[in-house]
Amino acid sequence: MSGIGPAEVAHDARFGEGFLWDAWYVALTTQALRGGPPRALTLLGEQLRIGRNRCGCAYAVQDLRPGDDPSGGAGPRRFPVVEQQGFVWVWMSRDRAVAPDEPPPRLPEIASGRPMLVEQIDYPVHVDHAILGLVDPAHGPFVHRQWWWRRGATAHAKSKAFRPVGRGFMMLRHRPSRNSNAYAVLGGAPETEIHFQLPGLRWEHVFIGRREVLSLSIMTPLTSDLTRMTQVLGSSHPVVTLLQPLLRLATRIFLRQDARIMRLQAPALADHPPMLWVGDADQQARWYVRLKREWIACRREGREFRNPISARTLHWTS
Ligand SMILES: [Fe+2]
Repeated sequence: MSGIGPAEVAHDARFGEGFLWDAWYVALTTQALRGGPPRALTLLGEQLRIGRNRCGCAYAVQDLRPGDDPSGGAGPRRFPVVEQQGFVWVWMSRDRAVAPDEPPPRLPEIASGRPMLVEQIDYPVHVDHAILGLVDPAHGPFVHRQWWWRRGATAHAKSKAFRPVGRGFMMLRHRPSRNSNAYAVLGGAPETEIHFQLPGLRWEHVFIGRREVLSLSIMTPLTSDLTRMTQVLGSSHPVVTLLQPLLRLATRIFLRQDARIMRLQAPALADHPPMLWVGDADQQARWYVRLKREWIACRREGREFRNPISARTLHWTS
């Protein structure tokens, strides 16, 4: 990361501040870029204009506002763009000279071949706090307590095995908890595995015999206190296809419940209080912090990423 000083590196490494640079981010869905004028979007605090050129290829350029001085008179900065799997990915680096050294990550193939449901919501918090909500296994009984999902009274002790994968970790495939009504409608003997990957991807893949359900969450930092959550659902299970209108409604309710909590937290988080991590329920949040620090360190030192996580079984109640 040439040209980046120690102050910027320290800022990026602090929880709730700065961003994870030299990474691909989902900026838009392909659907959102279908026809119409280019879209203005703030990504990691940078103002971009994203559109399609005459050949139909997506592009992203710095969006100059009246009074801005295009540096060196070289015109607006161009950001590398790749469109794949229904998403427009943009490479975000602090230093414009740092070109992508790898393509965007391949998301797990969605069982039916294309997503059946895509919902977005903006959370009024820094991406680190948005990701905490994503990897916090214990908030479900409190934030998402509704009869059709699960009952708070049924919360019980759980043990889940994890191992490091790529730039993240996974909860190994297992039979899901008995206190969730959502798995019951799938019938059979569902098994599920949950993945997290930097910079902000989480997916749950449920297998019921040859049928699959995939629930994918993508966090995109817009500014230091605004994060876009894209929730994708895909499935080859006939019950899920049948319930699609209800699932859309349920997804919106879930996203709004999380957004409400984040709105309530936002004023307290604005002063960057030290985080208090409690027990195994917060271990995934600690892992996220370690993964992020390792990413910053390996980019600074120009070496391969070394996953800092060791395989472990975590215990909590939810
Ligand atoms: Fe949630």
